[in-house]
Amino acid sequence: MIALGVDIGGSGIKGAVVNTETGELLSEKIRLATPQPATPEAVAGTLRELASKFSDYEAIGCGFPATVHHGIAFTAANIDQTWINTPVEKLFTETLGRPVFVLNDADAAGIAEMTFGIGKEQKNGIVMMITVGTGLGSAIFVNGVLMPNTELGHLILSDDIAEHYCSDAARQREDLGWNKWGKRFNRYLQRLQFLFNPDLIILGGGASKSFVKYQEKIRVRTPVVPARTLNLAGIIGAAVYAAGQSQAGLAPNIEGAEEYIKKMLEAEARHDRKEHKKLSGSLKSEADDD
Ligand code: BGC
Repeated sequence: MIALGVDIGGSGIKGAVVNTETGELLSEKIRLATPQPATPEAVAGTLRELASKFSDYEAIGCGFPATVHHGIAFTAANIDQTWINTPVEKLFTETLGRPVFVLNDADAAGIAEMTFGIGKEQKNGIVMMITVGTGLGSAIFVNGVLMPNTELGHLILSDDIAEHYCSDAARQREDLGWNKWGKRFNRYLQRLQFLFNPDLIILGGGASKSFVKYQEKIRVRTPVVPARTLNLAGIIGAAVYAAGQSQAGLAPNIEGAEEYIKKMLEAEARHDRKEHKKLSGSLKSEADDD
């Protein structure tokens, strides 16, 4: 299928038309700046502008930098806080006037690597994709099947959220050399290895392009490799996801979204929200710092 893949990030919104059978880009990649503040309406407007620059595609998929559960954004670490509890599939579908499928950005990158990259040869066991950019994103595949919406960039390391400690944004913010940053990132990978025992760790996002600069600081027994699709992974994976959903006859979550959000909020209100607040606070605080 020919699908438009879009990767929504904290600083740029990138898209290209993709042949989802081969992973090949059929158009040039176009990047528009993420509007600031990146509110739902503003981002939807930029997506409309981006989509209008392409033609002849049958489906649209979007990678989004947050937990996307049943088409609803539930977190917002590196994007405007007003995204929390926004029915993102509904908003984008209504804005573009055609079905738009949305998934977590790291999950999209993982799908690209499992379909066309290094992960293609590793369909048994556990493969982790870690995207290192403004945030730290994660995707886990067990025997080739994605367990969606893992948020392993939010593990605590050195009394800090891992994403604050060793994302590419942290490296730039603290002006760390590759050696120093590499040591930090190695600690993060050691933690992942200890907790999940993966068979392979694939690195995506901005820092995957510079792998040779910190490679020797990585000392885990799990093989660690940069993504073959590098930072096109998010675009390709989003297109593959959209093609899969539409070929399966599925539709974006439009009708059920508001009802689902209402139910979730009611359920949260019935529970002791202390722990929940603490956790979502740790996600929220990152956007405050950026
Ligand atoms: C978000 C994840 C996202 C990652 C990469 C994190 O801050 O919580 O959902 O995948 O950034 O964008």
